[in-house]
Amino acid sequence: MLWRLVILLFVIARPAESYFNLFLSFAEVHRLLGLDGELFYVREGTVNEYAMKFVVPVPALIQKLHFTWENLAGRPLPYTMFVDISNPTALSSSLNISHIGEIPVGGLQTWALSLHCGPYNIEVDLSLRINVSVSRKNTTSLEFKRKKICMNLKETPTEPEEVLVAAPDSTSGGQIFYVAIGCACAFMAAIFVLIIIYYVRDKKTRRHRDPLQESRGLSSACSMERGTGVGPAQTFLSPETPPPTSAASGSSYRRLDDRPNRELHERIQEITVQRCRVRLISIELEGTFGRVYRGSYHEEGALSPKDVLVKTAAEHASQSQVALLLREGLALYGLSHPALLPVLGVSIEDRSAPFLLYPHTGYKNMKRFLLKCKFSNEGPPRALTTQEVVEMALQAAKGVQYLHRKRLVHRDLAARNCVVDDDLRVQITDNALARDLFPQDYHCLGDNENRPIKWLAIESLLNKTFTTASDVWAFGVFLWELTTLAQQPYGEVDPFEMASYLREGYRLAQPINCPDELFAVMAYCWAMSAEERPTFSQLLICLQDFHTQLTRYV
Ligand SMILES: *[C@@H]1O[C@H](CO)[C@@H](O)[C@H](O)[C@H]1NC(C)=O
Ligand SMILES: *[C@@H]1O[C@H](CO)[C@@H](O)[C@H](O)[C@H]1NC(C)=O
Ligand SMILES: *[C@@H]1O[C@H](CO)[C@@H](O)[C@H](O)[C@H]1NC(C)=O
Repeated sequence: MLWRLVILLFVIARPAESYFNLFLSFAEVHRLLGLDGELFYVREGTVNEYAMKFVVPVPALIQKLHFTWENLAGRPLPYTMFVDISNPTALSSSLNISHIGEIPVGGLQTWALSLHCGPYNIEVDLSLRINVSVSRKNTTSLEFKRKKICMNLKETPTEPEEVLVAAPDSTSGGQIFYVAIGCACAFMAAIFVLIIIYYVRDKKTRRHRDPLQESRGLSSACSMERGTGVGPAQTFLSPETPPPTSAASGSSYRRLDDRPNRELHERIQEITVQRCRVRLISIELEGTFGRVYRGSYHEEGALSPKDVLVKTAAEHASQSQVALLLREGLALYGLSHPALLPVLGVSIEDRSAPFLLYPHTGYKNMKRFLLKCKFSNEGPPRALTTQEVVEMALQAAKGVQYLHRKRLVHRDLAARNCVVDDDLRVQITDNALARDLFPQDYHCLGDNENRPIKWLAIESLLNKTFTTASDVWAFGVFLWELTTLAQQPYGEVDPFEMASYLREGYRLAQPINCPDELFAVMAYCWAMSAEERPTFSQLLICLQDFHTQLTRYV
């Protein structure tokens, strides 16, 4: 390959016209092109025309291009530089050397062209033109062509992945970020074992189940709910007393994960996909160590690739972040319900950047969707109708009911962990990467554990116990998110104050436009004592009743 240039170890006596070198350093080539070697554009005065023609794509995460030059003439060589940007409103640039100057004698000089994207997702062509007067009559004119991809991201420098899989068409056009993942199928064994160990170890402590909750009678559920009689007050005082501290120290519960470890290992193996079959197209969401891409997955034997969503850790993710990603990503694996979005495949070929695949059928992250409704540019916010809210809630409730029947507790129900499509079909997802993508929803209370404090039931907050009843609490907050279009719950309350705030009986206020009946359902989910809260079966009956009322006269 052209770029795999070997560094010349021989210093040959330079001919008189060997005016200067201009190249990309080893580190720069690796960063920009993912290859090992230096790239000489001008070697001893001779221009590498082939290299000059190549339009180098500059990934969204790279904001600086470094060039290195070396004066071989023994006297200063004057240069002029000019940056030409096709769309100056979307991109600006700056150089850390002067536009007009001289290539200094003696040693290498590295300089940088910084590219500053505007708030658009766009590709911008630019060229950097340099004239170097090598002699009185002779000028070397150079034009470096770059295509900058602007994704309006945080400044997280990272390395691009290699493009190895030829993809059918679709590399042109607006926001396509064509990163395909290398086909490095040899890596597996050691890393595999390591990650499995993480996974198995963490899995042991992760779920507490409370099947008793589900089996409670439905008798008084709806009458109680209606009887709560909460008016449109800003906050209300709960009559409950604090819960018994041992609410769910369930030693008698049957564990789902009593299966031998070998089986878990097989579980990952079962859905392992080859990296080379996955192509990343564009970034959907971006955090500090994780990213969600839209992509395509060409299954072995399949006629055409299918659309997928790819959750992956960035290069600089730590081993424990990677383990967490896998552990959480596999939480719903193997389940099948229309309101659940389980993982489709996983790859741990590359230890530092494993990824999870999810089928992608046109849905979006629900929190983003709600916020978009709220802050839509076209006219006033598109509030969801009560009927739509109830229909979405019903779907989600069915998904969680199914989980609970499978003796699984979700532990992080929230709009951010759901997806929704244009027809308002809802699916619940795992919470892999949620901490990273929605950092404002998670807080540490001084124990280094990042938890969704504002969604936690009081007993989860105090004792870290999670039961079906704590899922019910979170579901109440989820309903509140639906009706407020993803407002931050308890926005004004300090996370450290949450426990005492809840203990004093304060809860979320009734949103404007939220009917009393619906707010009563939420309020019922936030009963102080876990036993007082409804089960999902009861919630379904209540929501269904309310839905019938709403549609009766339509
Ligand atoms: C380089 O020189 C050419 C003429 O030789 C001129 O048209 C062009 O504007 C110059 N470019 C720069 C960046 O000075
Ligand atoms: C320009 O900035 C780069 C870092 O971005 C630095 O390595 C280089 O030395 C700088 N060059 C000059 C001439 O200041
Ligand atoms: C300019 O340099 C090129 C090679 O670098 C040479 O072929 C040409 O004759 C030079 N022209 C003049 C006017 O010196």
